[in-house]
Amino acid sequence: MKPIDLIKQAVKAQNNAHAKYSDFTVGCALLTKDDDVILGCNIESAAYPSTMCAERVAIYAALAKGITRFKAIAIVSPLSAKPCGPCRQIIHEYLSDIPIYVSNGKTDKYETHHISDLLPHPFG
Ligand code: THU
Repeated sequence: MKPIDLIKQAVKAQNNAHAKYSDFTVGCALLTKDDDVILGCNIESAAYPSTMCAERVAIYAALAKGITRFKAIAIVSPLSAKPCGPCRQIIHEYLSDIPIYVSNGKTDKYETHHISDLLPHPFG
C-alpha cells in the first residue's frame, strides 16, 4: 500500500475522533504485515487524563486482535503532529522500526520518520 493511501485511511479514523475538549482531532492507520489496516482516533474524556491518543488506540486494537507484526503507521492531525512521548514509548516497544508517516491529511505532502530518530536512547 502506498503511503498516501494509508494516510487516507488515517483521515477516515480522524473523522471519528472524540476531541470535544481540545478540538484537536488525530487519526492513525496501522498497516499490518498481512496488509490489513487497523484504525485509531483520539478519544477524550471529561476526566482529562483518561484521554487516549489515536496511535495507542490503533496499536492496542491490533494487539488485542493478536496482530504483532507491522509494515507502516500513518498519523494525521491538523498540525502534522509527531507522536507524543508515551506513544513514542509504545511504538518503540510494539512496532519495529517501520516508517512513520505524518501528515495534516489535507494535501499529498507527508513526512517520514522512524522511532529510532523520534525516541533516541529508549527505555526498556
Ligand atoms: N493526541 C494524539 O491522539 N496523539 C498524540 O500523539 C498526541 C496527542 C491527542 C490527545 C488529545 O486528545 C489531543 O490530541 C490533544 O492533546
